[in-house]
Amino acid sequence: MSRTEGEFRIGVLTLSDKGARGERVDESGPALVALCAGLGRVEKTGIIPDDRETIMATLVEWADKCGLDLILTTGGTGLTPRDVTPEATLAVVDRLVPGMAEAMRMESLKKTPHAMLSRGVAGMRGETLIVNLPGSPKAARENFAVLLPALPHALGKLKGDPSDCAAG
Ligand code: MTE
Repeated sequence: MSRTEGEFRIGVLTLSDKGARGERVDESGPALVALCAGLGRVEKTGIIPDDRETIMATLVEWADKCGLDLILTTGGTGLTPRDVTPEATLAVVDRLVPGMAEAMRMESLKKTPHAMLSRGVAGMRGETLIVNLPGSPKAARENFAVLLPALPHALGKLKGDPSDCAAG
């Protein structure tokens, strides 16, 4: 079913061992939920540990069973052994959208050299777009701001919008 801006169905998934154990307050998830307000309805939120299988199972459930249009993940994109969000995402997507990750890193590098340490990916599972954002609230906000201008068009195309891409 086609949807327009404001109607997209969204999930925000926080990956954090400490958050899942209740040892850290999740600020990034709620920040993203607030930022999604104009884009659509956040129907699913969750905090789960940095465990590859758990992440994969949650992404598959939210995409296939819940039929969300967009899943934003936050956290687990860095270099520590427990950072496995990109691997879990790559295991469940059918097609990559490399430009989204490229744009986020390119713009983020203007803010911090540490931006090159996020290994986040973006890809499609059926008609669901999954995008990995880094974990700190600041990084999540900054990366989402890069994505946002292209999201309505991206989600429309993902749903099969056959119209020509007019300039502008
Ligand atoms: N991107 C932006 N825009 N702003 C930031 O502060 N932090 C970086 C990077 N991307 C950052 C950023 C840091 S310090 C790390 S370690 C990586 O994202 C990975 O973060 P994660 O492991 O929390 O996902």
